[in-house]
Amino acid sequence: MQVITEDLVFELEENESLLDGLERTGHHIEYQCRSGYCGACRISLTAGSVSYDKLPLASFRSNEILPCCCRVEEPLKIKVHLLSKLQG
Ligand code: FES
Repeated sequence: MQVITEDLVFELEENESLLDGLERTGHHIEYQCRSGYCGACRISLTAGSVSYDKLPLASFRSNEILPCCCRVEEPLKIKVHLLSKLQG
């Protein structure tokens, strides 16, 4: 599945979580629990949609998603930057 961030376009691998994919491609992403409890990984979704196998306990707005535990249903556009871009 295609993922478009502020700096890059990449393909999510089979059985890879969005959080894992963002880390693999060098994006800046926060996390703690990696299972939908803390909300630390929350990011803004600009286009596309995700689902959750189990409704996460962390709260998030309707335009936000939790990359640690969401299932990517269609190509996504998200507001995440590459770590290298943030560091200049
Ligand atoms: S890392 Fe805790 S909700 Fe995603």
